[in-house]
Amino acid sequence: MGRKKISIIGAGFVGATAAHWAAAKELGDIVLVDILEGIPQGKALDLFESAPIEGFDSNVIGTNTYEATKGSDIVIITSGVPRKPGMSREDLLDINRKIIESVVAEVTAKSPNAILIMVTNPLDTMTYLAIKKSGLPRERVMGMAGVLDTARYRAFIAMELGVSVEDIQALLLGGHGDEMVPLPRYTTVSGIPLSQLLPKEKIDKLVDRARKGGGEIVNLLKTGSAFYAPSAGAIQMAEAILKDKKRILPCCVYLNGEYGLKDICFGVPVKLGEKGVESIIELDLTEEEKCLVAKSAESVKKSILELKL
Ligand code: APR
Repeated sequence: MGRKKISIIGAGFVGATAAHWAAAKELGDIVLVDILEGIPQGKALDLFESAPIEGFDSNVIGTNTYEATKGSDIVIITSGVPRKPGMSREDLLDINRKIIESVVAEVTAKSPNAILIMVTNPLDTMTYLAIKKSGLPRERVMGMAGVLDTARYRAFIAMELGVSVEDIQALLLGGHGDEMVPLPRYTTVSGIPLSQLLPKEKIDKLVDRARKGGGEIVNLLKTGSAFYAPSAGAIQMAEAILKDKKRILPCCVYLNGEYGLKDICFGVPVKLGEKGVESIIELDLTEEEKCLVAKSAESVKKSILELKL
């Protein structure tokens, strides 16, 4: 068995950083693709030149064509424009849909058996577009949002409590927008329910900060959006699949009746293994949580309708 192949489309902030995480974890050989000439080549070569120092045996290739992506096991799609201050993720729809349509066609032609992880925003809508355009089964196309949103929420809880991030377990549902649904009821610190450690008002503040976490970074950076945590999220999903880890992670997947939702890509907990999305986990929700999920689903549906597919 040879090494796994991970192709990353878009060699910008998210794509190049994803390549970095993947190489550091020695997940396989990496192909970085971008339309800009020299950028993927330069970043790939620079990253490979760190291999003797860091000690990873992953080949890293940069290219402007899809030839080298042939037979990829995983393709992470980050091509597209990021938002700037004052923009919502939805403002990116028109420009990014064109990019995603062409990229998905190229990728699936060269790697018909690959599993696709979408990162480009608006995330839920771009994941839906990728499923519809590729015709791939829903097990093999997913979006990275829940892992990132949950990581932000976990980071804020760890900062508040002054405890290790490793001990914070949390879950979150919904679209990758400000209406996402963090679930404090399913949040624990080493098994201790969060509600025993923090008052409700404090938890509400952390939830609110997590919801707006992407915007907080955009406002600080001004010229682009977050990339360390988004790329780490995509690589955690890739690792779960490549190593058949059967991890339970919140991912954006196509729903066909689960959670009472149909024909939508939406964030829910799933089991990730070598086949991709191996199962969707349905939680019992309170009436209040159901309302929040319905509200988030409504915004995602509205965005999907904009595609006029
Ligand atoms: N094919 C390949 N690459 C493309 C294409 C295309 N058709 N169109 C654009 N790109 C490349 C750009 O040349 C750029 O290098 O995608 C890259 C995007 O990188 P950045 O501008 O640095 O954006 P980044 O911060 O990486 O965000 C990428 O991920 O988190 C989301 O909202 C974010 O949609 C955005 C995406």
